[in-house]
Amino acid sequence: MIVAIDGPAAAGKSTVARAVARAIGFTYLDSGAMYRAAALSGRDDIGALRIEVGDRVLLDGEDVTEAIRTPEVSAAASEIAARPEVRAALAAKQRELISKGDWVAEGRDIGTVVAPDAELKVFLTASPEERARRRAAELGLPLERVLADIAERDERDTTREHSPLRAADGAVEIDTTGLSIDDVVERIAGMVRR
Ligand code: CDP
Repeated sequence: MIVAIDGPAAAGKSTVARAVARAIGFTYLDSGAMYRAAALSGRDDIGALRIEVGDRVLLDGEDVTEAIRTPEVSAAASEIAARPEVRAALAAKQRELISKGDWVAEGRDIGTVVAPDAELKVFLTASPEERARRRAAELGLPLERVLADIAERDERDTTREHSPLRAADGAVEIDTTGLSIDDVVERIAGMVRR
């Protein structure tokens, strides 16, 4: 079974997807970490990169778990994510990974492109201010800067020609503004159990 969780930058997808996976015994896939690692590599031949995502993120064997979380890499990831050949290479890796077993996969295009047959699709949102507050606290960066970075990334991710961010047909939309992580996790885990 596949649970697809998509949504805009810093909507809480990673935290929620990881916790849902733990609650229901599925494996968690952070597709954004792949775009981030690909951006960090600075290389054009994305298909040739060895990217492993799990508790740690490895790029050709090197641990890049922390290095991929900087604002610079966030922006670079969203830039290369607009290139169709990059998307094709990473979507192929993602499909191969989730072809066996039970997964909670999280990103921008899981429900629309990578796993359109996912049994459950969730579109997670929150107000831009709430998302910026969460990400600023997480990274220890000024709120204004994070708000601007997120707005720029959302604009690029939603308006790109290939696999733009949007809610998949049939996706359950959850606005997490003002909800606790536990509330959101319980709601999604409950839908899976039913
Ligand atoms: O955690 P956050 O929401 O800040 O970002 P992320 O999920 O790590 O994704 C980083 C960037 O990769 C996004 O801004 C997208 O441009 C791109 N991405 C994508 O295009 N498709 C995905 N399935 C996942 C990420």
